[in-house]
Amino acid sequence: MAAPGWPVILTDPRTGVVLRPYRRSDARAWSRCRIANEAWLSVWEPTPPSGSWAALNSPSQFRLIYGELKRVSRAGGAMPFAVCLRTAGSRRERFVGQITLGNIVRRAFCSAYAGYWVDARVAGQGVIPTALALAVDHAFVAGGLHRIEVNIRPENLASRRVVEKLGFREESYHAKYLHIDGAWRDHIGYALTTEDVSAEGGLLARWHRIKGLAPNRA
Ligand SMILES: CC(C)(COP(=O)(O)OP(=O)(O)OC[C@H]1O[C@@H](n2cnc3c(N)ncnc32)[C@H](O)[C@@H]1OP(=O)(O)O)[C@@H](O)C(=O)NCCC(=O)NCCS
Repeated sequence: MAAPGWPVILTDPRTGVVLRPYRRSDARAWSRCRIANEAWLSVWEPTPPSGSWAALNSPSQFRLIYGELKRVSRAGGAMPFAVCLRTAGSRRERFVGQITLGNIVRRAFCSAYAGYWVDARVAGQGVIPTALALAVDHAFVAGGLHRIEVNIRPENLASRRVVEKLGFREESYHAKYLHIDGAWRDHIGYALTTEDVSAEGGLLARWHRIKGLAPNRA
């Protein structure tokens, strides 16, 4: 049986942000991007098993991760999106990051956790807020989910700005919550439910209004 809302390609024509499932052929672009961003990403990521950053982010490692993501997403446990940017007036896309709705639990919870990163070379352009808004709207409608949660280290001001700009609610403080960059780190829990955005036509519509962009035509 197909997982609700998966696979899918999500596009915001206003900004050129595209979310799509990973492809096996993403291995080299993913690896190059991850290796170029070691200092930028490693401080915010789960403590890896032993191994150098280059080895853990090689094209062959991508193919292992790809297989696992495919298995979990087909089973309905995650929606792992490659984040791409489409050049204006062209169909060309370049890979710039990742956003994942993970740990999807259904029944009475209907909730998922969102995690994300973007290439430092396109940071500060609103790529991840747009990607998160696209993913949340999709999860709430086609994905049948009710709640999306994001957990962020207090020190990660850039990531906190992403959820604060989108209007996520700050709900909780988790002491020693996740093992990140070599130690158990505290996290702030933010969340959003369908009720928070349904009257506004969704989270992307809210984000466009905040940025002063005209709404997408249906
Ligand atoms: C957190 C992250 C995903 C934000 O993505 P983004 O697409 O740059 O998001 P935004 O464009 O909304 O920028 C968010 C904040 O980053 C800061 N910022 C702006 N330009 C920046 C730049 N060139 N470089 C670094 N940070 C910048 C600003 O504080 C901005 O907030 P503001 O809009 O109030 O000024 C990105 O910084 C990242 O990938 N960081 C490393 C990995 C990470 O922290 N992942 C999240 C773990 S919870």
